[in-house]
Amino acid sequence: MNVLDAVKSRKSIRKYLDRPVEDSKLNTVLEAGRLAPSASNRQEWRFVIVRESGTRKRLAEAAGGQTFVGEAPVVVVACAKTDGRVMRCGQLSYPIDVAIALDHMTLAAVELGLGTCWIGLFEETRVKEILGIPEDIRVVQLMPLGYPVDPTPVEKSRLPFDMIVKYDHW
Ligand SMILES: Cc1cc2nc3c(=O)[nH]c(=O)nc-3n(C[C@H](O)[C@H](O)[C@H](O)COP(=O)(O)O)c2cc1C
Repeated sequence: MNVLDAVKSRKSIRKYLDRPVEDSKLNTVLEAGRLAPSASNRQEWRFVIVRESGTRKRLAEAAGGQTFVGEAPVVVVACAKTDGRVMRCGQLSYPIDVAIALDHMTLAAVELGLGTCWIGLFEETRVKEILGIPEDIRVVQLMPLGYPVDPTPVEKSRLPFDMIVKYDHW
């Protein structure tokens, strides 16, 4: 599978098989994240890998009761150990850097037959309590990971080029 195939095949997975993710596959997914670029190569990302089923269920509750989050065999809790650095362009670097790493992971997962879903709907303080995450660490996203019930790629609902791309000037 090439990168574009993975981009086209990835979709949000909200139903997972009751099948564990092999350690080798999990490590390959994490390696794709580890190799991601980051501002000044600061690599502020930190990942808590949750496999324990009771903890996954508690995370699902902290994610607004999105039960599928706890049904995946793995939940990647993507964190940042950050000093809140703002780049010259005015943007915080850590949410961008963590997102790049996670996106690498979503594409590596597709190649391995695995599925993911970005989860931004969660209560950070509850997630930190559940996992014992220190106060100075930010939780950026949750990401369930597992074998999809239905891996078939779907047509993506996206804006057309002429709405999102401008050439040479706005
Ligand atoms: C930053 C971010 C946060 C998201 N949070 C959630 C979420 O909490 N729950 C959920 O079911 N989907 C969530 N999604 C998934 C989006 O709804 C989904 O990516 C979008 O509708 C496009 O569909 P696709 O991923 O199947 O291509 C999130 C996606 C992103 C990128």
